[in-house]
Amino acid sequence: MNHFLHTNRPTPKPWPTRKPSHRSPLFFLALLFFLLFLLSYYFLAPRSLSPFSPLKTQFPQCASFQAATPGEKFLWYAPHSGFSNQLSEFKNAILMAGILNRTLIVPPVLDHHEVALGSCPKFRVLSPTEIRVAVWDHVVELLRSGRYVSMADIVDISSLVSSSVVRTIDLRAFASLWCGVKDFVCFNEAHKQSSLLDSLKQCGSLLSGLRGNVDKCIYAVDVDCRTTVWTYQHDVHGMLDSFQPDEQLKKKKKISYVRKRRDVYKTLGPGSEAESATLVAFGSLFTSPYKGSELYVDIHEAPRDQRIQSLIEKIEFLPFVPEILSAGKTFVDKNIEAPFLCAQLRLLDGQFKNHWKATFLSLRQKVESLRQSPLPIHIFVMTDLPEGNWTGSYLGELAGDSRNFKLHFLREEDELVTETAKKVMAAGHGLRSGFVPKSRGIGGSKEGCHSRIVPDLLLYIEEAVCSCAPLGFVGTAGSTIAQSVELMRKCGRCTMHAV
Ligand SMILES: *[C@@H]1O[C@H](CO)[C@@H](O)[C@H](O)[C@H]1NC(C)=O
Ligand SMILES: *[C@@H]1O[C@H](CO)[C@@H](O)[C@H](O)[C@H]1NC(C)=O
Repeated sequence: MNHFLHTNRPTPKPWPTRKPSHRSPLFFLALLFFLLFLLSYYFLAPRSLSPFSPLKTQFPQCASFQAATPGEKFLWYAPHSGFSNQLSEFKNAILMAGILNRTLIVPPVLDHHEVALGSCPKFRVLSPTEIRVAVWDHVVELLRSGRYVSMADIVDISSLVSSSVVRTIDLRAFASLWCGVKDFVCFNEAHKQSSLLDSLKQCGSLLSGLRGNVDKCIYAVDVDCRTTVWTYQHDVHGMLDSFQPDEQLKKKKKISYVRKRRDVYKTLGPGSEAESATLVAFGSLFTSPYKGSELYVDIHEAPRDQRIQSLIEKIEFLPFVPEILSAGKTFVDKNIEAPFLCAQLRLLDGQFKNHWKATFLSLRQKVESLRQSPLPIHIFVMTDLPEGNWTGSYLGELAGDSRNFKLHFLREEDELVTETAKKVMAAGHGLRSGFVPKSRGIGGSKEGCHSRIVPDLLLYIEEAVCSCAPLGFVGTAGSTIAQSVELMRKCGRCTMHAV
């Protein structure tokens, strides 16, 4: 922005000529004051003095975006990691949007671990701007490769939207207005060669906060879990959180972070600098309980705000869209046809590859406890271990004992999975729900505008099957997928009956 101010900066008076050898302390003092004057001019001069309005010249998209969405305020954030993590961030984003009364921009489902945050407890995370940039790049890549699937295509938010507790807009619909790109959804082959990708990348840099905050246009939240725990409780605003980096870490990493609890409404709501911005952009909204506190978002109840209290209750459990739930039921009815146990065995990834013993032990114990049931015992297995590698493990043992056990599982290439993917894409819940700028030809059901590559719904259908297992569920300790199934079993109204 400096070059704007440069044009109308007063020309400094030339120095009185002096011989270098005779520079007095007074000279240095004068120099110091002059520098201070210059600096303060740079940073404190009111922007309105500038003959150029930064908003109009540098960011024309903001003005035209505001014209297209009069009065509407938006919120976006940068999801990351695996699906279960993205879902929990999505819930936090719905909550933030509700509290700040902003329209939530619904993101796509990101590829598993394509974007990673880092570790909050170790105070080693991507900055909000870095993660927003990474997410935007990935979004553009999903569009380019025809693999874009909205979070709302998978997770059913229709009851939230229809009860108008939150307003939403699909990221594609938002970005087509924000970036001034027409026909964004039907992102066809011809576009690949064009400058469309470039313009998307470019407008992403404003969206990500790379250009900083722009008055009345974007407010890019620049705090993260190293310094902030969001609350919705003004009487603890500004207080230290109970979890702080310890001295050893501070010394080793040379960090000076202090974690404070901040009221999100007070910080970003009415009366704040952020309030007037059309778009408020968070970084990650990942949180998790840690050492008696929360890593980033600590909003579990809102006793003084009935609207938010009911929103918190509503988002505790968000079901999958009907197409996915019904695929789960179909599999149970047509393929399993008997009471069954579900085993979720995460064996290959990261922390899980060293815990085979514990994982199999809990399954063995559960299976032993079912010995009284009529044989064979039906077990639905969801695992990342390829079938060819089962030999030698407890899974191989179960698979080999067909008199006592019958194992069931789904594969990515099964017709049920691919057909469900087509149904989900055709339903297009994401683009149909929420705020749709119709003038742009978005939100229609034009054939050929769906993603060209059907999404991989295997995990979600598996979870739907497991949510209904009458003989119980054995999950992998520490797996967010297991937590998600437990939640579905607790809150989902599974209408399937034991056959
Ligand atoms: C929220 O925003 C909408 C539209 O932007 C407005 O009509 C409504 O009154 C606001 N609600 C609250 C609780 O501030
Ligand atoms: C699974 O089997 C393949 C091929 O037999 C082998 O290369 C691979 O190392 C195995 N993986 C594990 C985790 O055992």
